[in-house]
Amino acid sequence: MNKRSFLTALGSIPLLGLNQALAQTMAGMDHSQHGMAAPGQPAQAAMALAPVNALPTGAPLATLAKLTNTSTTPGVFQATLTAASVTLPLTAAGPTELWAYNASLPGPLIEVFEGDTVEILFINRLPQPSTIHWHGLPVPSEQDGNPQDAVEPGAQRIYKFTLPKGCAGTYWYHPHPHGFTAEQVYRGLAGTFIVRAKDDPLQQVPERLLVCSDLKLSGDGRIAANDANDEMDGREGQFALVNGQHQPVLQFAPGGRERWRIWNVNSARYLRLSLPGATLTLVGTDGGLLEKPVSGLTELLLAPAQRVELIVDAPVKPGRVALQAGVYARGKMGNAPPDQALTLLQVDFGAVSGQPLPALPAKLRTLANLGPVQAKKRVVFSEKMSMAGGVHRMKFLVNGKQFDMDRFDLTSRAGDVELWEIANESDMDHPFHIHGTQFEVIESVLNSKVTAAPYRAWRDTVNLISGETVRLKMVQHFKGPRMYHCHILEHENAGMIGQLRVA
Ligand code: C2O
Ligand code: CU
Ligand code: CU
Repeated sequence: MNKRSFLTALGSIPLLGLNQALAQTMAGMDHSQHGMAAPGQPAQAAMALAPVNALPTGAPLATLAKLTNTSTTPGVFQATLTAASVTLPLTAAGPTELWAYNASLPGPLIEVFEGDTVEILFINRLPQPSTIHWHGLPVPSEQDGNPQDAVEPGAQRIYKFTLPKGCAGTYWYHPHPHGFTAEQVYRGLAGTFIVRAKDDPLQQVPERLLVCSDLKLSGDGRIAANDANDEMDGREGQFALVNGQHQPVLQFAPGGRERWRIWNVNSARYLRLSLPGATLTLVGTDGGLLEKPVSGLTELLLAPAQRVELIVDAPVKPGRVALQAGVYARGKMGNAPPDQALTLLQVDFGAVSGQPLPALPAKLRTLANLGPVQAKKRVVFSEKMSMAGGVHRMKFLVNGKQFDMDRFDLTSRAGDVELWEIANESDMDHPFHIHGTQFEVIESVLNSKVTAAPYRAWRDTVNLISGETVRLKMVQHFKGPRMYHCHILEHENAGMIGQLRVA
């Protein structure tokens, strides 16, 4: 089965995303009324005061709802995204009001080809200003959902851009209004975006899309507000979701091999992924395929906002294996409870034929060399304790400052090859992200030890541990303002953002 028919087959399953989760939830609630537990769920799960147990588990993994293209012109993708409130009975504790794109959690998948022109009508039915930011995509600044271009409640606008050749990869979209980004994302606003290449060398491998997010609910089933730890460390919900579901079950392809695209769209949760027994090969990062496969992965750290493409080969022995997110120490402060390893989903591996799987192509694509460096930049992440108003807070800064929408911190010339040095002088990990382009990590420095990047890759987000410096090469092709920031959304929201003027 080729990739397209595989996707079509998945697309024909009538229950999509949240609807399926919802059906499962209602089935679970039904059972509990009769004193029975839903499958895979403890008997007391429906008790209102145990929200940690209140989301059902064990449903078949949902496929992502897709945004339908309403254009009949070849090469044009046209659709509407409406951000609005939607209330769902996710738990027995009470209804949950989410904010969602087209009532879908996660937001519907936009799937296009390199060269396509995308035209999205955005309708804002939220009680706050919003924008749509096309995370990682090379779109002009004025189409990129900058906070300066906010769409007011009740208003709408069109985002329009053409995707260049070579940008095939795994992207996403989310709001980026000033002061409201973190809240809008944790209420449910984030969707996926895949740009495909016609000559994708892995298109024969059946594809699986896994969007990791989380949900923090209070005892009454509502989306909980941030507490002091959330503001300091970034918000982590008690429910880690995949495709909007809590610990669903993935039925692995009978051929024994799948290509997984994984998104970390969590506000702050780091995903230290492992899948014991399976063979994992890294083939792509944020900005698409690597030059060649990187085999022999045992675990993989996916920081907030990052994406990967993996080839997963089934273990020889059939059975159920948990996709785990292990404990990752990222230097949290405050008095958050200690982290625990989580099961993100269960994978049901069937019997494999015993025939060895074909070797992956030795070469996936050619990554252009950016060439000699024409300009340099330095960005420093730091933290500062504040006792303003008698409240103990941590301020996170970029080059010693907090974000000011009307200030440019750095200037670049469109088309210049630049070397950016990002230094993390704070005590916590922070994922650095820049808008408008993909970069190549050249090397990182920790305790004066320089480590060259082990392979070439396009990324738009890179994690920095405390004390680490990374050097990146990038080119901004469009003029206009661009932001760079920590992608822990509470940090971003509190002003851990700098602004670049591309002239
Ligand atoms: Cu995911 Cu400033 O963005
Ligand atoms: Cu972005
Ligand atoms: Cu941060």
